Amino acid sequence: MSETQGASAALPQHVAIIMDGNGRWAVGQGLPRMEGHRAGLKNVSKAVRALVELGVPYVTLFSFSTENWKRPEDEIAGLLRLLAEALDDTAKELHRQDIVIRHLGRLDRLPISLRLGIGRIVEQTKGNKGAVASFAFDYGGRTEIIEATRKAVESGIRPGKIDETIFEGFLNTTGLPDVDLLVRTGGEKRLSNFLLWQSAYAELYFTDTLWPDFGRAEIEKALADYARRQRRFGGL
Ligand code: FPP
Repeated sequence: MSETQGASAALPQHVAIIMDGNGRWAVGQGLPRMEGHRAGLKNVSKAVRALVELGVPYVTLFSFSTENWKRPEDEIAGLLRLLAEALDDTAKELHRQDIVIRHLGRLDRLPISLRLGIGRIVEQTKGNKGAVASFAFDYGGRTEIIEATRKAVESGIRPGKIDETIFEGFLNTTGLPDVDLLVRTGGEKRLSNFLLWQSAYAELYFTDTLWPDFGRAEIEKALADYARRQRRFGGL
């Protein structure tokens, strides 16, 4: 588990980010909220590139939560449009950088064109040799755990055989290491149902910086903060 993996590693293997503050960024610039999400998307490719260049092999970004469906219809439509754009350009750019793209969360509530687009890019990049960038879109940690439980039951496995390793095989994140560093931008200090199982031993890093402003210098600061923390072998 990363409790021990992280004990000696100064560099986190898996960084997960809750990208918060797009709306406030836009308001601060006198722009509509949607422009904040657009700026947020621009920052996605920059942030992934920076983290990968700095040596982080697994990056996971919270892009749309199961709760986000409660947002106003036009904002949801705008975010889905941005996802379509991201599949056209951001994802292709990551593919050119040899990055493996994964999707975490539900697909069944997304329009068919997006479902197909996600399926295509995941398939195209699965043989890549670079870092792994996972996008949590229509993702919620509790839903993921419930779904994993259902899948385990449906698989017919004997309950007594289920342990952490076997259970992880039913999660969306199968094959990814535990989260070492969980970052949340935008000033809130909550996990918001993100990667609940996978962040069991994660170091938490909260910053007031709004997501579109969370650039390379901020990323380096977060990694330096992580490296300074004492991770005691076998500790809590
Ligand atoms: C939170 O900002 C951010 C989101 C709800 C979505 C994050 C989306 C992006 C970064 C762009 C789209 C990305 C992809 C991969 C399609 P907020 O609206 O809650 O900001 P606020 O707290 O300031 O209102």
